Amino acid sequence: MSTPLVVTIDGPAGAGKSTVARRLARRLGYRLLDTGAIYRAVAITALGRGVDLDDEAGLAAIAADLAIDFAFEGDVNHVFLGGADVTTAIRTPEASKAASLVSRHPAVRAALLALQRRLGGSGGVVVEGRDTGTVVFPDAGAKFFLTASDEERARRRQLELEAGGGVVPSFEHTLREIRERDDRDASRDVAPMVAADDAVIVDSSTASLDEVIDQIAAEVARRAS
Ligand code: DC
Repeated sequence: MSTPLVVTIDGPAGAGKSTVARRLARRLGYRLLDTGAIYRAVAITALGRGVDLDDEAGLAAIAADLAIDFAFEGDVNHVFLGGADVTTAIRTPEASKAASLVSRHPAVRAALLALQRRLGGSGGVVVEGRDTGTVVFPDAGAKFFLTASDEERARRRQLELEAGGGVVPSFEHTLREIRERDDRDASRDVAPMVAADDAVIVDSSTASLDEVIDQIAAEVARRAS
């Protein structure tokens, strides 16, 4: 009999985390908790209400009152905010930048901690983010830190934007944005993006996502048995 675990997958933007986490959750029959989507939801709510992204108390109030839900429909993990489907609205470049700015504030992070733990429940969940193995679920049964080179991550981001059919900035612009966001996420004082001591580091620069998922699934099976 295998025990349903909390599996954390942390790492920088563009390392393939979302795809790996989603497909892993489907394969294991686990739920998927996308913690980045939670920060994004706070960000779009703030943008919509005109709350300044430096207004820590205002942002924390939004975080404390966030009515967010996730539900798989096929292979898409839909995000609902106050009942409205915001799956696409939270993925714009503006929302990405705002989410990173929002996530710097300790009061916002504190307000979201209990929410993430509640949504993570007692296991049988893949949790994806930046600090889920270090801060949110320090006792997770299996922790992974998924990374890839800056250039590879920028290349993947370009492909994603192209697939989305929107305006695609230059490669250099995307690379710069990725590096800026990494710097901000890794250098903030509270819960910076860093691998947990007991995380398995997985580099997806050269491996295919299928190989990465196989590797992670095998490790989870080993720990759950
Ligand atoms: O994974 P993502 O790109 O959807 O995350 C959006 C932003 O949220 C990212 O810039 C950093 C922040 N974030 C965080 O600080 N902690 C998490 N656990 C998840 C995301």
